[in-house]
Amino acid sequence: MKDKLHELGARAREEMAEAGSPEELDEIRIRFLGKKGELTRILRGMGGLSAEERPRVGKMANEIRAAIEKELTAKSAILKKLIKEQMLHNEKIDVTLPGTVVWRGGRHPLNIVLEEIENIFLGLGYTIAEGPEIETDYYNFEALNLPKDHPARDMQDTFFISNEILLRTQTSPVQVRTMEKTAPKLPVKIIAPGKVYRRDDDATHSPMFNQVEGLAVDQRITFSDLKGTLAYFAREMFGKKTKTRFRPSYFPFTEPSAEVDVSCVICGGTGCRVCSHTGWLEILGAGMVHPRVLEVSGYNSEDVTGFAFGMGIERITMLKYGIDDMRLLFENDLRFLQQF
Ligand code: DAH
Repeated sequence: MKDKLHELGARAREEMAEAGSPEELDEIRIRFLGKKGELTRILRGMGGLSAEERPRVGKMANEIRAAIEKELTAKSAILKKLIKEQMLHNEKIDVTLPGTVVWRGGRHPLNIVLEEIENIFLGLGYTIAEGPEIETDYYNFEALNLPKDHPARDMQDTFFISNEILLRTQTSPVQVRTMEKTAPKLPVKIIAPGKVYRRDDDATHSPMFNQVEGLAVDQRITFSDLKGTLAYFAREMFGKKTKTRFRPSYFPFTEPSAEVDVSCVICGGTGCRVCSHTGWLEILGAGMVHPRVLEVSGYNSEDVTGFAFGMGIERITMLKYGIDDMRLLFENDLRFLQQF
């Protein structure tokens, strides 16, 4: 019986040494020390022992049990520590790894340019005015000196909702709406950005595009004020060396009228493909507010004068960034938009 106990102790030690997990140790404990385990089974034979032998064998069995339990506890502690270390090693966080990129979006080139235009004029004391995109024939045409049969209407064919209501073709109606609200107070100094609509669609025209209107009305406003203001604007927008050129033109709501060019932003004026080898780029229309427009808006054209101008934001944006197709501005292709 003693031999059997010794053998059991040795085997248990061996198995514990080889055990690789706490689960295996538990299994060993049950198999050797459990109620139906090997030790119990051996001790069942105690009845056949002599009276002197019984306590000795009993003591030996207890010692072996204690030794195995002690070893189980020690081994289990070692294994748990090892497992924890391994876990810490495997799960360690590399703080130098690049993080998840959060897609933040950006500003549309048209908005970048519009904001620049607004800031230039806000700096000159202008305020920002707005008008409706669905406009009446009166404000879009008639009040601007374009009666129903006027030939200049042909250039601005638009989307009519009824005979008298249409999608505005220009931001110029905001001139009249603003003056009506302000008259007879002076001065009037506004810019009016917004969407306009025309029956046009090609690489340089879109059925919807954006304009910024400008209007300054006061006593003794002259064409020189207009020239100075727009020359300053061009230098701020396109660079200090930018020159401006005024060519005589016609708009029904200004007299005299001009088309304004800037020295080519690509070649600086020597001539290139962008400026069709002229050295100049047209950027806007302008002029002195027609007396009739002042009158219908509530001002006495004997007392006050004013200048006005209107530019296309898409065109300015295309010139500024060298974009050769307007449709790129509306397609929302990320490869395009991410460049701004
Ligand atoms: N409204 C004109 C257009 O859309 C642009 C324009 C020209 C606006 C001359 C003005 C101006 O205020 O004075 O073509």
